[in-house]
Amino acid sequence: MRNIIDEQIELIRAQIGSGHAICGLSGGVDSAVAAALVQRAIGDHLTCVFVDHGLLRKGEAEQVEHDFVAATGVDLVVVDAQADFAAALAGITDPEAKRKIIGREFIRAFEQAARRIAESDATDPDPGGTAEFLVQGTLYPDVVESGGGTGTANIKSHHNVGGLPTDLGFTLIEPLRTLFKDEVRALGAELGLPPEIVWRQPFPGPGLAIRIVGEVTPDRLRIVREADAIAREELTVAGLDRQIWQCPVVLLADVRSVGVQGDERSYGYPIVLRPVTSEDAMTADWARVPDAVLARISGRITNEVQQINRVVLDITSKPPGTIEWE
Ligand code: XMP
Repeated sequence: MRNIIDEQIELIRAQIGSGHAICGLSGGVDSAVAAALVQRAIGDHLTCVFVDHGLLRKGEAEQVEHDFVAATGVDLVVVDAQADFAAALAGITDPEAKRKIIGREFIRAFEQAARRIAESDATDPDPGGTAEFLVQGTLYPDVVESGGGTGTANIKSHHNVGGLPTDLGFTLIEPLRTLFKDEVRALGAELGLPPEIVWRQPFPGPGLAIRIVGEVTPDRLRIVREADAIAREELTVAGLDRQIWQCPVVLLADVRSVGVQGDERSYGYPIVLRPVTSEDAMTADWARVPDAVLARISGRITNEVQQINRVVLDITSKPPGTIEWE
């Protein structure tokens, strides 16, 4: 690991020179490790950018702002892009279209952040300049699934690879591009990142937008956010966080079914639980979560989340299913 760190630091220094970089932080382990590595290489020539796209889970924006800054002391700029993402996604239902729009909107938000950073530096006695480099925590599986490996099909365009716009104005710095998640976690630990960051379960850059099958609307985001918070809480209480790779909670927004809640007929949406075990996300198996835990999650979601009257369990491995539904 030491060797990889030293090698990468040299490479990054050679690439960036005296230039400036920004790094998109998502709250996940990949971007945190990429940022920590680049910070070691170029110090305060790196500014991290957190794009609040409104597609995050409950409490996530606050977590990024506190945990990562507390752990690394890095400069962080927060861009509130919620309105832009919502407008761009309105009426869109196709998964690849969603992914491409999100990839593009991320880059527009980074451009905006780079301008803001350059402007604020203008009053600095030691001015920075406009960031021409964008650091991303892209891993090897992201590249392969986006159709970037030799002879591989485009399964889905990861927002940070196949979802990038063609008029990208940044030079990309991707120090983790040949690594798998377990290697990235080891690297993060070696760099001194705290276990809360190193062991965080994966969460996709496009966020809850690809966990709503159908159009993304504020009401649907609220539903999936509430259901997800319950599932996460119960899995944590049951001590299953490290055994489960991740557990997407998916809203089937175009499906409704009849239920009975209290003495009333209901006509609500189903929520899918997708707990999986995996080594590297290239393949996965459905996780055998104990019945009692599933029962608690199901009971709480149907009781506490309005408009959900059915909870279903996805028992498909990858392949043939993928982990996320879109
Ligand atoms: P799939 O759904 O392809 O997911 O089996 C494999 C892993 O990748 C995550 N994922 C993404 N991560 N940007 C990301 O940063 C994306 O566009 C993206 N799509 C999927 C997914 O959560 C799983 O861990």
